Amino acid sequence: MSASLTHQEKMYRAYMEFFDIAERKRRWHPLNDIPWEKLNPAKNSEEKAICVETFCGVELYVPDYTANGFNLTRTIFGHAWFQANWGYEESKHGLTFREYLIRSGQRTEEQYADFEQQIFAQVWKLPFHTRRQMTCYGALQESATFLIYRAQMEKARQEGDEVLDKIYFYVSRDEAAHMGFYIKVLQLELEEDREGTLADLAYVIYHFQMPGVGLIPEYDQRLGVNGVGISSQQFLQRGIFPLLRAVGSSRQEMVKLFHQKKKTEQPDRISA
Ligand SMILES: [Fe+2]
Ligand SMILES: [Fe+2]
Repeated sequence: MSASLTHQEKMYRAYMEFFDIAERKRRWHPLNDIPWEKLNPAKNSEEKAICVETFCGVELYVPDYTANGFNLTRTIFGHAWFQANWGYEESKHGLTFREYLIRSGQRTEEQYADFEQQIFAQVWKLPFHTRRQMTCYGALQESATFLIYRAQMEKARQEGDEVLDKIYFYVSRDEAAHMGFYIKVLQLELEEDREGTLADLAYVIYHFQMPGVGLIPEYDQRLGVNGVGISSQQFLQRGIFPLLRAVGSSRQEMVKLFHQKKKTEQPDRISA
């Protein structure tokens, strides 16, 4: 189904706003803007390395994320062009994490190459199959990633780790902007079909998993390392509830819609 003209126009404006702010205020250079000269072996720890390596692994699926994202959004200029920009920004995150692991000496080139090979041996698949459900997923996933990176930034700041402080500052600021774009798109979808959009949101919240599940080597063990993830309770309080407030819904409404959908459950059609 193609999007209505008004939706096309609104998406174009939403994208232009995102693009304009990104170009004017948010561009950063992984080689020039990180104080690499401040790397200090005394600040290294296996806990930090596992966090960065795990995040790097998730960011490395950019080819699969963008291929699928383009397929779902190619008929809507604003949305498809967002995918291109989004992919560029996520690709910088993977690059920066890779640089950190090698430059800090916490992984050798060979160790990193092995890890990357394991990552690329797996293929990320769409967790949901409609554009609107993937918008809901994007809002949730970006919010979780933002919270995780922001917590890492605060920890690095407390420890006086200037390199990780700066890295997590830049990447978490990007994730916040991605989350903001997805919330904006959700708001546009709500204007067109409030009930259907909220039903999708409820469905996605109940089936949400982070993209690394099943793809990153030893993911469950990694989650045991402090900082790799956040607890469900933290995600509810600091991610899901603020998102529900931003779209004018509530936990009660989500629970109701989810149970309604379950009663009339039909397999979701695969379409954009
Ligand atoms: Fe990212
Ligand atoms: Fe992101």
